[in-house]
Amino acid sequence: MTAFSLPGAPHVHYTQQQLHVEGCSLDALANAHGTPLFVYSKASMLEALSSYQRGFAGRNAQICYAMKANSSLAVLQLFARAGCGFDIVSGGELARALTAGAESGTIIFSGVGKTRAEMRDALAAGIACFNVESEAEIDVLNAVALAAGKVAPISIRVNPNVDPKTHPYISTGLKGNKFGIAHERTLAAYQRAATLPGLGIVGIDCHIGSQITEDAPYLDAMDRMLDLVTSIEAAGIPLGHIDFGGGLGINYNGDTPPQADALWTKLMAKLDARGFGQRKLLIEPGRSLVGNAGVCVSEVLYLKPGEQKNFCVIDAAMNDLPRPAMYQAYHAIVPLSKTAQTESPAVVYDVVGPVCESGDWIGHDRALSVRAGERLAVLSAGAYCMSMASNYNSRPRAAEVMVDGNHAHLIRNRESVTASMGGEHLLQPAGTSNGP
Ligand code: LLP
Repeated sequence: MTAFSLPGAPHVHYTQQQLHVEGCSLDALANAHGTPLFVYSKASMLEALSSYQRGFAGRNAQICYAMKANSSLAVLQLFARAGCGFDIVSGGELARALTAGAESGTIIFSGVGKTRAEMRDALAAGIACFNVESEAEIDVLNAVALAAGKVAPISIRVNPNVDPKTHPYISTGLKGNKFGIAHERTLAAYQRAATLPGLGIVGIDCHIGSQITEDAPYLDAMDRMLDLVTSIEAAGIPLGHIDFGGGLGINYNGDTPPQADALWTKLMAKLDARGFGQRKLLIEPGRSLVGNAGVCVSEVLYLKPGEQKNFCVIDAAMNDLPRPAMYQAYHAIVPLSKTAQTESPAVVYDVVGPVCESGDWIGHDRALSVRAGERLAVLSAGAYCMSMASNYNSRPRAAEVMVDGNHAHLIRNRESVTASMGGEHLLQPAGTSNGP
């Protein structure tokens, strides 16, 4: 019996030439549930979480899973049961987190555009903290809290102007980004917030970007944050917690990000050296908890030789896997069956979906020996895939399965076309109306 794991994803492995997630054959899952199909390893998610937990052993730390990475209810439930809080960015995420069993006192609310209604709902739920991202939001949140007879717990999200050295669309802590309040204006913003009766200052926050694969940007951001904490507290404003955001990268294509426990051992050493080792810490990891735990299984529909390129048309598309189209992101693509590999020589293909856009590609220049009807797996598809999926081209969303050892739990039905038309209305004859 041959068994080996794919890089970055220890629970995705070939056993007897067939690709498995934990103890489940992906071919069997695709036979049962169809394709495209997202399959997640529960053990991978919990192991990724325990790496952070090891890094924080003995510390006063709360891990708030950034649920935008994968907001499927069963994923949230898994993390809630494992002791995570949640970083949310919308009223929809608040409702999902609560439905999945999150404790409201462990929820923090980030985002540059919180609406008054979202603020009211989060106040009513009793969340732990609003990560406020602008001076204007400070005033609106104060007014909303006063009207509700509450005090809103806040931290200010600082834009530390540190280059995370990642794709420009996913760096968030540079001066040119829309996120947070500029480092130089933070003290004044805290001083103003401290005068407002609807706000209670509970911490400080930053998040510098995503898919970060080096230590240095974190160490730089931490230094800048701790300088700020010192000056804000010297001005008489105590900060209960420090939130260092998320952003740790994963291995998509030979990337070598630090392990969470190793990174946090280094960061804790800096915190200790600067006298902040006992401070309450929050972090907001998303991708690094779920990214390498998931694959997307897809069927090859057609092989299409071309003059300049050969195309391998699969039944997953940019609506299911938007990252290549949006960020030119690389996802490894491997066959479900290794036996097919040995039968025919590999051909170089562009792997594309059925959507009517040239941007609908999943992988460029991939050497594969496949035939129509065979299945492929797109790897590292646990983060920012299903949560960013759309119905473009009126394609229903894929189904999702969570594997736990030899057991597979269907955690989301394949969307029906009828359900995807659910909230829509045809025009009615003149004189009648669907509403205001
Ligand atoms: N906290 C805040 C305030 C964030 O904006 C984000 C991600 C996170 C935490 C989690 O970051 P992570 O640990 O997942 O890197 N769709 C893009 C990624 C966008 C990330 C946006 N913010 C992608 O597919 O690469």
